[in-house]
Amino acid sequence: MNIILMGLPGAGKGTQASEIVKKYPIPHISTGDMFRKAIREETDLGKEAKSYMDRGELVPDEVTVGIVKERLSEDDAKKGFLLDGFPRTIDQAEALNQIMDDLGREIEAVINIEVPEEELMNRLTGRRICEKCGTTYHLVFNPPKVEGVCDLDGGKLYQREDDNPETVSNRLEVNIKQSKPILEYYEDKNVLRNIDGAKDINDVTTDVINILDQLK
Ligand code: AP5
Ligand code: MG
Repeated sequence: MNIILMGLPGAGKGTQASEIVKKYPIPHISTGDMFRKAIREETDLGKEAKSYMDRGELVPDEVTVGIVKERLSEDDAKKGFLLDGFPRTIDQAEALNQIMDDLGREIEAVINIEVPEEELMNRLTGRRICEKCGTTYHLVFNPPKVEGVCDLDGGKLYQREDDNPETVSNRLEVNIKQSKPILEYYEDKNVLRNIDGAKDINDVTTDVINILDQLK
């Protein structure tokens, strides 16, 4: 199963991905998570990515395509993958197409989670994440049982550095501009599936799973 999850910042890609991988044995490959890991580990990739992420800009295509290509060639991705946050430019989409051709595989579905723009600022500035296990919460829409503490492992919850209002505004602007041509690109390939991401988290998961079940 070779799947792409698309959606503007805060649409719920990460939230849905963690549910999908509970049901299907495919790795969740998030370019944002890969960059954040590199930043924590203070690698050269991390240093380069940080300068773009702090401003809410996209990391250059050649860097991003390089890490995805490497990741997709790993063993666990041979049975399929769930890409989250990639591709975000037409050049990335074309590079992915080439990677898939080289591997003799095809993208089976591009699930686009649609949420009204005005809701995304609230979602992102209220997001909190467990520092131990990475589970995502929201102060209002999906709060933990005890404030500031992960329900699953008691880890402390933190806020992502790029979830401040100023950076969120730029992320939204950049991504709104970029997303239209990519959606058209996949619509032309007949793999685009739009879903309503403004519903409750569990209802969105049901809709995503319904689509994926049809692919099996
Ligand atoms: P990335 O980490 O991918 O960030 P993003 O696209 O901005 O998306 P988010 O992770 O913020 O949102 P999400 O859709 O995962 O939402 P979530 O499920 O957490 O990228 C970060 C940066 O890395 C980029 O800005 C760029 O610099 C760089 N980068 C990454 N990929 C790149 C690429 N391909 N090319 C170049 N640069 C790249 O949910 C958000 C909140 O909403 C949570 O609090 C959650 O609890 C809540 N929520 C979720 N669903 C619902 C719901 N249905 N109802 C109510 N609340 C909900
Ligand atoms: Mg995410």
